Amino acid sequence: MEKLTDQISRVLMAGFEAAGMDSELGRVTVSNRPDLCQYQCNGAMAAAKRYHKAPFVLAQQVVDAVGQNPMFSKLEVVRPGFINLDLAPDFLAGQLNELESDPMRGVERAEQPLTIVVDYGGPNVAKPLHVGHLRSAIIGESIKRTCRFLGHKVIGDIHLGDWGLQMGQIITELHERQPELPYFDPDFQGEYPAEPPFAISDLEEIYPAASARCKVDEDYRRAAQNATWELQSGRRGYRALWRHIVNVSVADLKANYRRLDVDFDLWYGESDAQPYIPAMVEMMQEKGYAYRSEGALVVDVQEEDDTREVPPCLILKSDGAAQYETTDLATIVQREADFHPDRMIYLADKRQELHYVRVFRCAYKTGLVDRDKCSLEYVGFGTMNGKDGKPFKTREGGVLRLETLIGSVEDAVYQKVMDNGGSTPEEGREIARTVAVAAIKYGDLSNQPYKDYVFDIDRFTAFEGNTGPYIVYTMVRIKSILNKYAAAYPDAAAGAILPPASRSETDLALTLCRFNEAVYEAYEQKAPNRLCRYLYDLTGSLNQFYAEHNILREPDAARQAGYIALIRLVLHVLETGAGLLGFTAPERM
Ligand code: ARG
Repeated sequence: MEKLTDQISRVLMAGFEAAGMDSELGRVTVSNRPDLCQYQCNGAMAAAKRYHKAPFVLAQQVVDAVGQNPMFSKLEVVRPGFINLDLAPDFLAGQLNELESDPMRGVERAEQPLTIVVDYGGPNVAKPLHVGHLRSAIIGESIKRTCRFLGHKVIGDIHLGDWGLQMGQIITELHERQPELPYFDPDFQGEYPAEPPFAISDLEEIYPAASARCKVDEDYRRAAQNATWELQSGRRGYRALWRHIVNVSVADLKANYRRLDVDFDLWYGESDAQPYIPAMVEMMQEKGYAYRSEGALVVDVQEEDDTREVPPCLILKSDGAAQYETTDLATIVQREADFHPDRMIYLADKRQELHYVRVFRCAYKTGLVDRDKCSLEYVGFGTMNGKDGKPFKTREGGVLRLETLIGSVEDAVYQKVMDNGGSTPEEGREIARTVAVAAIKYGDLSNQPYKDYVFDIDRFTAFEGNTGPYIVYTMVRIKSILNKYAAAYPDAAAGAILPPASRSETDLALTLCRFNEAVYEAYEQKAPNRLCRYLYDLTGSLNQFYAEHNILREPDAARQAGYIALIRLVLHVLETGAGLLGFTAPERM
């Protein structure tokens, strides 16, 4: 469906044109004085300067030119020359009934579907999944779903960190502990065991131990670096061991992401990009982009109007080792080869911004991607802080495991559900699982991605206020009214939504009509917080309407059926919106 503002603007624009003025002046906006009107057009004010006439006169000419239009119940000029307008209740009802029959709830699919890769999640193998990776998963998932909803072909890639020093550290530590394993025997020729020699719980203990020892033990650190290098150069036993580490870790990651309702189309890692490095480096050298600087191979990416220094992109270190940049560049080559994407969107902590600036510039400059055919985009997000304003930690000061965090949110929700009464402990747990996801995701997404925010379990799990549980609670409430209605009037025919007859009903109708605008904004600005804001407004309008209309006691059957149809549409819009944010509502709460 065409955006409501555009529908209205079209009429006013034709009016300006008919009155002999530039049609662009006819753009309308949502009124900033909702007590006076629903929409407003200020074009005559600008027209007055351009056409040297009084704005009031010009506005009146436009209104006369528009004449009688069934779309409006009010179209009037107010001094000094604003045009105020209200939509006719019949027109609004028409819009709402159209929304109800449209599974996209007014959102139009892109005319030209794009291929979009969303690179998000980015956890590191063998390191526990911690809250630092939470934001990437949550924001990325919402951006992915929104792009997909608009009809684009979207590929979500987790881009595992599976190729760094941590792998060599773990190998070194395992070697210390179990030197007898065949993986360490350079002469071993047979098949390596299919079963991994460790469980995820072992890895979780091994990695921190190894990493800590690297900091104090010079020889150990060199051994770990060497093991990393040997792994990367293809030492057979280390490759086999590495496979085990990746598999065990990925199984654990999958379980965690599933709990958050986050899923990836591709589980590629940094390692998958390595085969693309040699040819890429050769090309960069041959074409003269890459040159040696103090032994390292670099590509300059400083641009003329930079106000800060942008250091060259480091392609290979002097020892020939590939870097974080190298891997990201090679991944671009891989994605180009596999998908020819129109866009690649990266989610990462905002402290990584300079990394992406350099990688993107280098990719464009060296022709890995054609600037006109593919845009490389970075969404940098802020830190999730604890109530003390410092990055979220456990009480003991260590990094908090994601599992633990989800668990505490579930517990908090469970407590509230049980306090409300009416649920068995099993039901309570089930509900808590669903609502916890809403609490965590909404708590995050309702903030602008770039901003830091404070993760406050009490606030995020509150059933009142601007929270995920409040949104889903409203959905549950609507479901309960619909169920009660169906039980009380089993034979009632499905009604159409009627023209709104009260202030709160009109307000609800107007808000419903703006769903598509909120989705487009969230998409265009890669800002799920826009959609959160919209859902919060919609729940507010619904609750206001509900407080003023006793739906189940409404004596007029047609009116009652109309109310039911109206709140069902609200539920559908809330469900669609929540789906784009990545959460759902339970049946009861
Ligand atoms: N693994 C990285 C980290 O933990 C994030 C990866 C982000 N994606 C990328 N293509 N660089 O910091």
